[in-house]
Amino acid sequence: MFSNEPKRISLARLPTPIQKLEKLIALFGGPELYIKRDDLTGIGLSGNKVRKLEYLLADAKDQGADTLITCGGIQSNHSRATAIAATQNGMDSVLVLRGKRETPYDGNVLLDKLVGAEIRLVTPEQYAQRIDQIMEQVGQELRDQGRRPYVIPEGGSNPIGVWGYIRASGEIKDQLEEMNLKVDAVVTAVGSGGTQAGLLIGGKLSDLGARVVGFNVCDTAKHFQARIGRLVAETIEKYALPCQIFPDEILLVDGYVGRGYALSRPQELKLIKTVARQEGVFLDPVYTGKALFGLADQIRRGRFKKGEKILFLHTGGIFGLFVQEKREGLFPGKA
Ligand SMILES: Cc1ncc(COP(=O)(O)O)c(C=O)c1O
Repeated sequence: MFSNEPKRISLARLPTPIQKLEKLIALFGGPELYIKRDDLTGIGLSGNKVRKLEYLLADAKDQGADTLITCGGIQSNHSRATAIAATQNGMDSVLVLRGKRETPYDGNVLLDKLVGAEIRLVTPEQYAQRIDQIMEQVGQELRDQGRRPYVIPEGGSNPIGVWGYIRASGEIKDQLEEMNLKVDAVVTAVGSGGTQAGLLIGGKLSDLGARVVGFNVCDTAKHFQARIGRLVAETIEKYALPCQIFPDEILLVDGYVGRGYALSRPQELKLIKTVARQEGVFLDPVYTGKALFGLADQIRRGRFKKGEKILFLHTGGIFGLFVQEKREGLFPGKA
């Protein structure tokens, strides 16, 4: 496959399909749209994080870890996938989540609790200022008890996790070749940057020839250009990868964070309903709903043109729909 690829275990159901979104193409009236269904990598283990975890768990196992520690928002998809992957591989998990309370056990938290993850809550301030230190402290506490913890950073976005989408790019390349299709752009939601970093590197290594466009669902485009730039550079250096990514290739579209991370606007929820009704595809409110909303708006504004072909990466997140507040937003007074 790729030179210097680190060890990997199999967690995801691969390859995930690529489908044409006929109805949305007609509705948006612009470029040809395709969707890469990484929401179908599994049930509990669904979404983009599973590809990263294939490499991170291989590393954790190599180090003899017995407990995975990671972090995220209270409804973190990454934490849910990590907790399930831990259980499936005979490990425990501690999730350091940003939030006031665990209850009600809905969405991802329900699955976290079902697989027996330990949840530790932190405030937004603690999370913003020192989440890595907090996870280190949890690690130390476990080591003092004779455990062997392995810390996975936010979103699994480190040079090991980036391999998930380096490898996925090769999968995309093979599928597109088989479909006799060439896409101009691959579009993804961005939350911690690892997916876009992997797509950028993998796109070069696989000679995909498509630009990679990210829609950030928190922070700013500028923040992610720098963060992804660092992650790309670290990964290329650590694995001596034969490619180069220039700053102007790290494309992010600002302006679609909306009310803030994990907060929905009525127009975003409306699009989620439209996509469900037109295509039978379920977007999530935190990532893919916002990214596709942004893409549709950018198509309307002429950034993506008729004749172009776009591959939208469905990065998963379905359990975000099963959170009371989102149900209320989708069906007011009925949820
Ligand atoms: C469903 C979903 N989509 C997209 C993302 C963003 O991916 P990344 O963190 O690699 O930027 C995440 C996680 O942050 C996610 O859970």
